[in-house]
Amino acid sequence: MRIDEYVPLSTLTTLRVGGAARYVCHIESLKDLTDACEFAEAHALPIIPLGEGSNVLAPDEGLAAVILLMKLPGAMYEDVGTHVRVRASAGLSWDTFVSACAERSVWGIENLAGIPGTVGAAPVQNIGAYGASVSDSIECVEAYDVQTKESIRIPHDACRFGYRQSRFKNEKNLIITAVTFLLSKQGTPELHYPDFAPFKDTCAQTPRAVTSLVREIRAKKFPDLTQFGTAGSFFKNPIVSREVYERLVERYEGLPGFAEGDAVKIPVAWILDRVLHLRGYTEGNVLLFQNQPLVLVTQNGATADAVKKFAEVIAEKVFAVSEIKISPEVQFLK
Ligand code: EPU
Repeated sequence: MRIDEYVPLSTLTTLRVGGAARYVCHIESLKDLTDACEFAEAHALPIIPLGEGSNVLAPDEGLAAVILLMKLPGAMYEDVGTHVRVRASAGLSWDTFVSACAERSVWGIENLAGIPGTVGAAPVQNIGAYGASVSDSIECVEAYDVQTKESIRIPHDACRFGYRQSRFKNEKNLIITAVTFLLSKQGTPELHYPDFAPFKDTCAQTPRAVTSLVREIRAKKFPDLTQFGTAGSFFKNPIVSREVYERLVERYEGLPGFAEGDAVKIPVAWILDRVLHLRGYTEGNVLLFQNQPLVLVTQNGATADAVKKFAEVIAEKVFAVSEIKISPEVQFLK
């Protein structure tokens, strides 16, 4: 197993900030994983799994920890009548995996094309976009429990999926090693999300065509990762009671709201744009992206502290006009 020392976390995360990680273990097999856990135990250091680092903020002071760079490769496809069952290893690039499934013309995850990250990270925050959530297609998750030193298989219903939520966010002892998806051979395109409206006549009739369309839409809204530091949406969209939502609509006509059970999910991007006029708002090397203000962007020399302070300022501004406390979607490593 390859072990690197003092690796700048700015090179391992897409926000491109953060000091040095004491150790980085490259995990390419289950043996590497168990060896790395033993290594961490021997050095009395905590372990932190990382995929492509696309949804995390690393601290400026670095981490006295063993980072597990999850690179477990491979996917197995099994024909099961109307569906295809796919067991994909945690280290696969999510978007490469989406493309591979689209090439096989199976439905379920095509709306999630273009999301940065790995297969193993996808269930943690239950990635979602354009009307789809990854949890809708997951049959089970395999994880290595660093406390019991056992590999376990967790069925969908025990993953406790919610909006940008799962048990894996809290149970840090579970390191995801593989995810099994059940994808349909006979799907239809789900093009209800408002962003698809201008393309209604382009007839995206295959999973592959939908992935192309989603990538085209995303390219206009999200910063190019090769040019900017970003972790996608920095905040979660808050879920409020219907009463709170209705009170806000009285104040802000046209405020969108999406039903979440009995409650309502409010797009913070709308408040940042239409109420606060913060598209492109900049402080030092941190800014809200012009085309999508929920997306925070870092430029050369930005620090994690500057990102945190900037995020606090934004959260205060949102609170001042809505009395809603927004919280980060991005996970702060510590
Ligand atoms: N809006 C504006 N002005 C803007 C942008 C958006 O008013 O400049 C309003 C529009 O009314 C729009 C609404 O905000 O309908 C929502 O915007 P958008 O569709 O871009 O989605 P979002 O709520 O900002 C969520 C996810 C994204 C996902 C998109 C598309 C969260 C925190 N974010 O963003 O996920 O790609 O929907 O489905 O739920 C991520 O999690 O990192 C992420 C990028």
